Amino acid sequence: MLKVAPETLPAARYRDPALYEIERREIFARGWLLLAHEAQLPAPGSYVAVTVAGFPLIVVRDDAGEIRAFHNVCRHRAGLLALDGAGNCGGALTCRYHGWRYKLDGRLASARDFGPADGFDPRNFSLFPLTVKTWRGFVFVNMEQEPESFDATMAPLEEAMAGMNVERFTEAHLSSHEIACNWKTYVENYLEGYHVAMVHPSLDASINRDYQVVVQPPVMFFRATPRDGAAVAGLWAWAWPCLGINVYADGILMERMWPVSHNRTRLDYLFLFPKGTPADRIAGNIEASAITTREDVMICEEVQKNLDAGIYDTGRLSPKHEGGLAWFQDRVREIIGAV
Ligand code: FES
Ligand SMILES: [Fe+2]
Repeated sequence: MLKVAPETLPAARYRDPALYEIERREIFARGWLLLAHEAQLPAPGSYVAVTVAGFPLIVVRDDAGEIRAFHNVCRHRAGLLALDGAGNCGGALTCRYHGWRYKLDGRLASARDFGPADGFDPRNFSLFPLTVKTWRGFVFVNMEQEPESFDATMAPLEEAMAGMNVERFTEAHLSSHEIACNWKTYVENYLEGYHVAMVHPSLDASINRDYQVVVQPPVMFFRATPRDGAAVAGLWAWAWPCLGINVYADGILMERMWPVSHNRTRLDYLFLFPKGTPADRIAGNIEASAITTREDVMICEEVQKNLDAGIYDTGRLSPKHEGGLAWFQDRVREIIGAV
């Protein structure tokens, strides 16, 4: 029997600010988010601040060497503790607005020059904590205090990456691209190889057209054999809600496809190489990935224009090529409900 071709999500799902607000709360405030690698947090006070789906977040290494994470918001009048980026905050996180200081465990240490006041107990004004999980050097956070099981979420990857020794990659490099499309437009493009022959000529020349997507929820794996007959080394995968994972023989690339708004997405790439990798090899790797990204960005921005135009509503997914998308769209429907 032939498989059905599932109907896509309606175009409104990719352009409506009100629907995006629901996704922020139901997907990003509940999912596991890869914010940093331990190599970016070498000493007490080291921090990485990043805004995900409009939630400013910060991870910091505390005085005892433990990694903690918080919403990057001061409890006084909502100032930021740090601008997005990385650095060392010393022994405290200090609000940029009026200078309240927080210990690295999140407790309010001093409300600078607040003056005498009744009914203000600093003990009630700690930073809002996030749940932190470190996995093979990668720092994941979850905004829920009792989140869905990290181990269950990552089990398919844990198994696939056993023995790859990715812990040897400790030199971190970042690159970032902001693009004009809904985050799902970009994620869905990542979840199929159907477009490779049309959009990525050089990638298409290097792999056979035996591209396969294997769905092991909430992770999926992409497989294709090299045209030159070389053995397949490494791993190409994706994890809910928006993490691309590429493990090569000589490095790893984690692609975060963060929503910025209903119609903008930021691709935050975290590359890791073995210590001592020559700078030209690093630059070459980053440029190679930028070529494929540019091709994907161009096509996704074109598609978004049509999702916004109001002519197209829904289409059909190919059972042969787009099983990964079908799973992703079902998950979105299940969490958020049909539009
Ligand atoms: S908002 Fe942070 S000190 Fe005022
Ligand atoms: Fe692509």
